[in-house]
Amino acid sequence: MSNYSKQRLAWAITGSGHYLRESLEILQTIEDADVFLSRAAAEIIQQYGFQSKIEATGRKVYQDKTASSVPVEMFYEGKYHTLVIAPATSNTIAKMAYGFSDSLVTNLYAQAGKTRVPSIIFACDTVPEEGSSSIISEAPRDNMVKVYPRQIDLDNVKKLAQFEVTQVVENMAALQASIEARLKAIKS
Ligand SMILES: Cc1cc2nc3c(=O)[nH]c(=O)nc-3n(C[C@H](O)[C@H](O)[C@H](O)COP(=O)(O)O)c2cc1C
Repeated sequence: MSNYSKQRLAWAITGSGHYLRESLEILQTIEDADVFLSRAAAEIIQQYGFQSKIEATGRKVYQDKTASSVPVEMFYEGKYHTLVIAPATSNTIAKMAYGFSDSLVTNLYAQAGKTRVPSIIFACDTVPEEGSSSIISEAPRDNMVKVYPRQIDLDNVKKLAQFEVTQVVENMAALQASIEARLKAIKS
């Protein structure tokens, strides 16, 4: 049995409405996962009425309440084998791409990198659908809006994809496949 058998998956959620619903659906299917919310994520989950979806996952939920991001200590203790950040806002992507670690989620990413724990990141606002410069994003109360990702957002995603032990995925199918591959690899 590998050392990974007692470790868990850390799933961080940021303040994105885009693909929040779909990310929570994948989270629901994963065993042995803890959830970490940015301050904006805690608000957005309320706004979209997804609190019950989070509760339905039965996961332990850590909120961003401390200046030093106390929960990241668990990465030093080797509690997690993988960090998933989905959905990741353009704000969090930008901060991570430039090495900031001033919030719970950006700190999780920094400490995961420093302890060589692989990260899988879905950058929500950055990849336009094929043949289009815009994406359709879910707003609160089931409204759909057209969003045009900015060049700086696209550039930041590319920059982040070059970081050590980091995999940036472009859609939900790739997110699911990447998590499944990682879980399979650590179980073998
Ligand atoms: C209703 C609502 C939906 C939002 N959806 C997105 C989104 O899809 N993508 C994004 O990058 N930011 C989105 N935001 C803005 C972020 O929540 C905001 O930039 C916040 O500062 C991000 O903080 P965080 O990256 O620490 O979670 C949304 C804000 C609101 C109020």
